[in-house]
Amino acid sequence: MFKIGVLISGGGTNLQSIIDNVNSGYLDCKIEIVISDSENAYGIERARKSGIDAVALPKKQYGDALSDEILKIVSERKVDLIVTAGFLSILKGELLKKYKNKIINIHPSLIPSFCGKGMYGLNVHKAAINYGVKTSGCTVHFVDEGTDTGPIIIQKAVPVFSDDTAEILQKRVLDKEHEALPEAIKLIAEDKLEVHDRRVLIK
Ligand code: GAR
Repeated sequence: MFKIGVLISGGGTNLQSIIDNVNSGYLDCKIEIVISDSENAYGIERARKSGIDAVALPKKQYGDALSDEILKIVSERKVDLIVTAGFLSILKGELLKKYKNKIINIHPSLIPSFCGKGMYGLNVHKAAINYGVKTSGCTVHFVDEGTDTGPIIIQKAVPVFSDDTAEILQKRVLDKEHEALPEAIKLIAEDKLEVHDRRVLIK
């Protein structure tokens, strides 16, 4: 069975969407492990409630060794795909080499807009509203050495309305994230993707 490791930092609604899609049979996968870089992430509870192993590797404790520790765990458990779902630490080192094109991230904007350093959570939606864009959305992409720079797998757009607050836009985008992330995982689990430089093609 195709094994997924999910990395989280917070509430874990994207994790929940993966759990729900595994339970419904849409995804023929097993969530092998959930790893959080914060002990207080509600996503840890979501995992445990569903009988999924979850570990916390607090950023403060692991510091620069966080990626190596994650690599140790996912290798031991023979994880096929790492999904970063609201994971706020930057991955680096051996992990990126060993899991090249086997780590995906969900970002709450249409990359290359409103992404990169400091662009996470509500900051992204505030930036989109302040810029005045009429369309925003979410992006699922492969993770490489940069921040939000890897090849794009799926994007879904939503309208931005003149009376939107960052919170309202966040909710509209999150609903699309909960569709896009399981779709991307399914494409990878079924070996339907080919990566040619920056372009991801469906076979
Ligand atoms: C999601 O909107 C995700 O796209 C975003 O954090 C939120 C996590 O929500 N990620 C980033 O901003 C990363 N740059 P969740 O914990 O409910 O899944």
